[in-house]
Amino acid sequence: MMNTKENIKVLIPREDVEAKAAEIGAQIVKDYEGEPVYLICTLRGAIMWMSELMKHINCDAEIDFIQASSYGSSQTSSGVVKIKKDLEGEIYNKNVIIVEDIIDTGNTLKLLKEYLQDRNPKSIKICTLLDKPSRREADIKGDYVGFEIENLFVVGFGLDFAQKYRNLPYVGYIEG
Ligand code: IMP
Ligand code: MG
Repeated sequence: MMNTKENIKVLIPREDVEAKAAEIGAQIVKDYEGEPVYLICTLRGAIMWMSELMKHINCDAEIDFIQASSYGSSQTSSGVVKIKKDLEGEIYNKNVIIVEDIIDTGNTLKLLKEYLQDRNPKSIKICTLLDKPSRREADIKGDYVGFEIENLFVVGFGLDFAQKYRNLPYVGYIEG
C-alpha cells in the first residue's frame, strides 16, 4: 500500500502498455531487417518501457544508458544539454534507437539527439512510450510512439512526480 497524498487515476492500463511494447518491438525488428540495433535508455524515466520493449526486439541488440538534462534558452539552438551520465559503449556506425518515456516540449531530446549524432551512428531513431504533441516547442518527433496523450501530468511505468510513482505498473495521471 502506497502512502500517498495524490489521487492517481489509471490512464493506460498495464496490459495496453505491454501490448504496445510487443507491437512496436515487432515493428522495429521488421524495419531493421535483422540488422543489430543499439538501444539507448534515457534515465531514469524510460527504464520500465525499455525493459518491456526489449523483450520483443528479437534481433541482435545492445543496451546502454544515458542521463541528460537541458538548460539555457533551448527553444533556440543555443540550448545546452548537460550529460549527467554518458554511454558506456561506442555508437559509431550503429543503428541507434533512443528509448524515451515521454516527449513533452522535446527540448532535451532534440539536444540529446544532436549530441549523439556527432558520434556518427549509422542511423538514429526515437522510440517513446508517450507523446504530448500539444506541448511541443522543439522541432522533433518520435519515430515510434506508443500513445499520444493530452496535456496531463502522468506518472507510473517509470515516470515520476517528485521522484515518486515510478514503480506503478501502469500509466496514471494525477487528478488535480
Ligand atoms: P522535454 O520534452 O524536454 O520537455 O522533457 C521531457 C522530460 O520531462 C521527460 O523525459 C520526463 O522526464 C519529464 N516529463 C514531461 N512530462 C511529464 C509528465 O507528464 N510526467 C512526468 N514526467 C514528465
Ligand atoms: Mg525523461
